[in-house]
Amino acid sequence: MFITLEGGEGAGKSTQARRIAAHYAALGRPVFLTREPGGTAGGEALRGLLLSRGWEGGAEMLLHFAARREHVTRAIRPALAAGAVVVCDRFADSSLAYQVAGQGGARAMWQGLVELTLDGVWPDRTFLLDLPPEAGLARAALRGDTNRYETLGLDFHGRIRQAFLHQAAAEPARFRVIDATAPLDGVTAAIFAGLPA
Ligand code: TYD
Repeated sequence: MFITLEGGEGAGKSTQARRIAAHYAALGRPVFLTREPGGTAGGEALRGLLLSRGWEGGAEMLLHFAARREHVTRAIRPALAAGAVVVCDRFADSSLAYQVAGQGGARAMWQGLVELTLDGVWPDRTFLLDLPPEAGLARAALRGDTNRYETLGLDFHGRIRQAFLHQAAAEPARFRVIDATAPLDGVTAAIFAGLPA
């Protein structure tokens, strides 16, 4: 089972990803908890490059998908094949939101890369942690480790929110939209209610 968490900055994805992983581990299920960009040694190296400086838009999308292919082929697919529940903080939906809706990249490039690079590996369930960008950016600022994307302004982050909501509406069987303005435990409860068996 492949579960992903998506959403804007400061939505609380990583906390909730840890809680989902702990839930399955407590049931005795093998769990692989991971994140993007990253999740492998090469992917983490690419993460450093992506977060530390700006790129031409298409190059940036290719770098995200290079990291993702490494992640899928070397870590996610083997974990799924071994029967693990894979819980991933961000996946391909983030590239559609950030690189296409946010940065004006071509949707056809995103679609082509999904088809060419992921070998059909696709989440079974995606939790979209939705909240207004003002609230998310304020939380991210409190966290104090501002990354390059967090500095891109409210317009940018508003487009990202809409893109995620649009994607969720387009694939209702995969997505569960969660109100991330709720207290942490309320968000967890809403997620647990939507976990696949
Ligand atoms: P991170 O610190 O993990 O942000 P967050 O805690 O909000 O998830 O940094 C990841 C950043 O990379 C985040 O700002 C979103 C961005 N990103 C993309 O632009 N495209 C992608 O495909 C992915 C996976 C992430």
